Formats: sequence, structure tokens, C-alpha cells
Amino acid sequence: MAPTLRTDVSSLHLAGRRSPEASLLSPVQTCAGRFGAAGSSPEEALRLRPGEAGSAAPAGEKGTPPLVAPGLFISFEGIDGAGKSTHISALAEAFKAKGRAVTLSREPGGTPLAEKLRAMILNDVMDPLTEALLIFAARRDHLTTVIAPALARGDVVLCDRFTDATFAYQGGGRGFDLDVLSKLELWAQDARGLGHDFVHELGKKGEAAAIVQPDLTVWFDLPPEEAAQRLTGARVPDKFEAQPVEFFRRVAQGYADRLAADPGRFARIDAGQTREAVWQSVHGVFTGKGWL
Ligand code: TMP
Repeated sequence: MAPTLRTDVSSLHLAGRRSPEASLLSPVQTCAGRFGAAGSSPEEALRLRPGEAGSAAPAGEKGTPPLVAPGLFISFEGIDGAGKSTHISALAEAFKAKGRAVTLSREPGGTPLAEKLRAMILNDVMDPLTEALLIFAARRDHLTTVIAPALARGDVVLCDRFTDATFAYQGGGRGFDLDVLSKLELWAQDARGLGHDFVHELGKKGEAAAIVQPDLTVWFDLPPEEAAQRLTGARVPDKFEAQPVEFFRRVAQGYADRLAADPGRFARIDAGQTREAVWQSVHGVFTGKGWL
């Protein structure tokens, strides 16, 4: 079932408060341009939903909930070399041109703590459970200090990788136990205590769990052989980039399995096209949803 995102307005004032460190994060850029009722285009105004997100929005008349755009959480996935970075930047510009505030971030990383963990995760040799625990620890810090507050403000959060990468790389690539990853996902992305009410329906009907998941995951799908060619000589490879093509075949299958389990959340992009054609596909997904 497609994920839904609801925000509890009563708790947004706490959740929307940003730590001083968060605004200093180098890999995370928050772009100016809050999306409020004033100055919105007619189309954008049509999409405003009363009181769904945004603590700093101008309050309406007494008893009227503030009109702000709901936050959007979008993740980008693909094997190394799939070419997502330029398109993420272009999307950020497109959203800003529409007057939306954008938070750009990445995983593992996105906070000072998570960036320290990233350096270990990408370079140090460790056992698979240790790796998974560090990845989810970084994710929890990123979620609580950057992603959730940004969504509460009504930002568009564009995140270069999120949990699907863990299922694809650790689960698919490394063959690590998917049940353990699912448990860690439930714990690390538990929405309780974040000041929000993000609800993502997991599992069978009636077994909903309140975890934070992207509203949309854009998967740049590229044959591993082609990705390997693109990466050749690009830079000194990290621990994952140095893996053989066979590893990336399993990672790609891991992404395909995640898509199959939750098709409504995913947009699969044929990343083997020309860069311009890939951009047209990506842009088309967002215009098709009425987000751009
Ligand atoms: P990237 O930022 O260049 O995409 O590098 C991040 C690397 O970390 C990439 O090789 C994928 C890997 N990774 C995992 O193995 N598990 C994860 O959960 C995430 C987010 C990334």
C-alpha cells in the first residue's frame, strides 16, 4: 500500500525547532524559500492542505489552521554509478523555482554524527551486523535531527539514499538477514516521539506500523556492467564501489524486491538512457504527481 504521511500539527512547534548544529551540516543544504500561503501560485495554492505541516507558517484567523504545503520526503536510489546526483540537484532547483524550501541530504550521513559513521561504514572492514547497526544508528540521528524537522516545516526533503539502500546493499549485496534488517527498520524509523504522525502501512492489512518512509523513492535502474564502466577510474573506490559486478547484480535485485513489495512508493527510471532523457523521465514523475 502506498505510504501516507500525516503530521500532527499540535506537536509541530517542538518538532520544527532546529538544532544549531543541524544548520551547519555541510552535506545538508537547506534552501531558502518557505512555501506559505502568501505568494503561492494558484496551482500551488490548490495543493495546500490546511494544517498539515509547517510550524512557522503564518497563522490564519482565529480557529483557522495555517495554510502551508505539506512536507515531501523523496529518496533516490540506485547502484553506484547509476548517475543520480546531477538529477537530485536539478530537482532541488526545480522545487526552489516553484517557491518550495528544499532540504538536500544524503545517507549514510547528513548530520555531524552520521557523517562520522559514514566514514567508518564506507571504509572500515567490519562484520555485517556491525555495519547494519552503524547504518541504522546514522539513519536514526539523521531522521530525528534533520529529516523530521524539515518535513515539519513543510520542506521538500531530497535524500540521496535511505533505507532501501540498506535492503539492497546489506540485504541483497551482502546477503545479510532481511528479517533482522526489517526489525532494525522498525526501530530506527519509529515515528513515535518525533512529534509527527507519519504512518506507513507495513505488512498485511491490519498490521500497520508507524514508521517514517519516503513518500516517493526514485530508483535509477542501470545494468551493473554499465555502472561499472561508468565508475572506472572515476575516483579511489570506497569499500562498496570496489565490489565486483556480481555484488551489484545482487544489489539491483535487492532494489527490485523492495519495489515489488511496495510498488506505489517507487518510480523506476531507466538510467541507461541519455542524461537528458533520464532527466525528462525524472521530471515527468514529479509533474505527473502534481509536485512540480
Ligand atoms: P554514495 O553516497 O556515493 O552513494 O555512497 C554511499 C555508499 O554506501 C554506496 O556505495 C551505498 C552504500 N550504502 C549501503 O551500503 N547501505 C546503506 O544503507 C546506504 C544508505 C548506503
